[in-house]
Amino acid sequence: MIKIEKFSEEYAEQALALKVSDEQLKFVGTVQEIFENMPETGHKHVVLVGDEVVGLFAIDTVYSENYDFCSKGALGLRAFFIDSRHQGKGYGKSSVAALKPYLQQAYSQYSKIYLTVNCKNPSAYRCYLKSGFTDIDDLYLGGAAGPQYIMLMETA
Ligand SMILES: CC(C)(COP(=O)(O)OP(=O)(O)OC[C@H]1O[C@@H](n2cnc3c(N)ncnc32)[C@H](O)[C@@H]1OP(=O)(O)O)[C@@H](O)C(=O)NCCC(=O)NCCS
Repeated sequence: MIKIEKFSEEYAEQALALKVSDEQLKFVGTVQEIFENMPETGHKHVVLVGDEVVGLFAIDTVYSENYDFCSKGALGLRAFFIDSRHQGKGYGKSSVAALKPYLQQAYSQYSKIYLTVNCKNPSAYRCYLKSGFTDIDDLYLGGAAGPQYIMLMETA
């Protein structure tokens, strides 16, 4: 059973030890890079299985200021990943599924969340699609690693 928690110092050591494979680095970067580049408006979260941190993501509260496709007041999901040792166990899908009730409770003033996912990242695309996001049928072309699908989940 997975649980979503806001990041805090008690999770720092475990979070910093999380990794993705070399081939997946272009999609999220290292945890160190994520931590260094995430502004205050990107709220870091951990995915827990029991007491173990297995993944990470950030909720971007000013996503609409940086992405034209994002309507005002919508959230953005960024830097979502599951540690490579724990991938393929269903944690990705259950984290995304748990996101909707979590956002309804912790970010109730927002009614939707967007993300972009690289067109060359079918595992992540399918994970999002199977867990509540829909493809809005438009591409974001500003990413460093090539075109990205834009996906949306209504949370209200
Ligand atoms: C995308 C990611 C979060 C999925 O997490 P996960 O825990 O491995 O995913 P799950 O076990 O819940 O599987 C979810 C779906 O993803 C797909 N999937 C997972 N691993 C896969 C693999 N190795 N190859 C192809 N598809 C895969 C499957 O469709 C699966 O659904 P199914 O089991 O019903 O067929 C994980 O692979 C990851 O962290 N990738 C690197 C970082 C990344 O790309 N993040 C997304 C940035 S937008």
